[in-house]
Amino acid sequence: MAKILITGAAGFIGSHTTDRLLASGHTVLGVDNLRSGHRRNLTPALAAPEFRLEEADVSAAGVLDALAKEFRPDAIIHLAALVSVQESIQDPELNHRLNITATERVAAAALAHGVRRIVFASSAAIYGDTTDLPIREETEKAPISPYGAAKLHSEGILLGLSAQGVTVRCHRYFNVFGPRQDPASPYSGVISIFDRRYREGKPVTIYGDGQQTRDFISVHDVARANEIAATKPGIAAGAANICTGRATSLLDIVKVFATHYPAVPPPSFAPARNGDIIHSLGRPDRAQAELGFRATVSVADGLGELIRTG
Ligand code: UD1
Repeated sequence: MAKILITGAAGFIGSHTTDRLLASGHTVLGVDNLRSGHRRNLTPALAAPEFRLEEADVSAAGVLDALAKEFRPDAIIHLAALVSVQESIQDPELNHRLNITATERVAAAALAHGVRRIVFASSAAIYGDTTDLPIREETEKAPISPYGAAKLHSEGILLGLSAQGVTVRCHRYFNVFGPRQDPASPYSGVISIFDRRYREGKPVTIYGDGQQTRDFISVHDVARANEIAATKPGIAAGAANICTGRATSLLDIVKVFATHYPAVPPPSFAPARNGDIIHSLGRPDRAQAELGFRATVSVADGLGELIRTG
């Protein structure tokens, strides 16, 4: 069994990753400043003796160094981030601190304390608005936001540690959905926003004609990919898309919600958002080849679970 330090453990992906690692018998130290994460996401984890939450900002000097020194993790899963693309545009300095400085702290702590493995939450945002689909890892990297640029830069910082014997896996997540995703902002993940609206009995708004597609991946699959990358013996360093390879339109998503909530009025349509891309789709083959990971939760099943359990 391994000792894993998870930054951003109270977040959407972090809390599911924590739950999964604990269920497998690993010991987890979670670090989170609760800026966008919530303690309530860790309610099940906090009951486990193999889990501890440290409320701290991983971008602050000395924080990760002290925790890694004390805990001696086998792996760090670095998920803490400024997660909002919009916020990264409004406040590039904050984006720099939370998405780049924090990564540098992870790298330094790993080197100083002999951590052999790092898993990093990268993003499909590093590819920008490419129309060359499905997106392969070799597809041109052309981020169009400070967020995407910081994720790409962070990959470079971490992959550079390979020369020092640290195995780094960068996970380029596509559109992740599932329980605990925060619908608070209009720019939150569309499924979390739709879920909340249907629960409230209110119609959703579709920007554009609803035929835009995304590669939606369940957070349970993402947590499993994180576990594999952090604990599977014998894997090599590298970066891979974490996606399903399947495109789902917003109209398809709405159809599923409408079946579960027949009394909610139909969606209203509004003009497409500025800068919105029509289609996004990843090629999942590299994660399969390098990690033995393949997404198994269908959008229909994932939505069904979200609707039933929230
Ligand atoms: C992702 C980012 C977004 C960023 C964009 C470009 C997330 C959750 N979103 O958007 O912040 O600006 O990449 O890099 O990471 N939609 C509706 N109704 C709603 C909400 C959304 O129709 O109430 C539409 C959007 O216009 C879009 C689709 O749903 O066409 C998906 O939206 P979203 O979940 O924000 O994902 P991305 O567009 O991939």
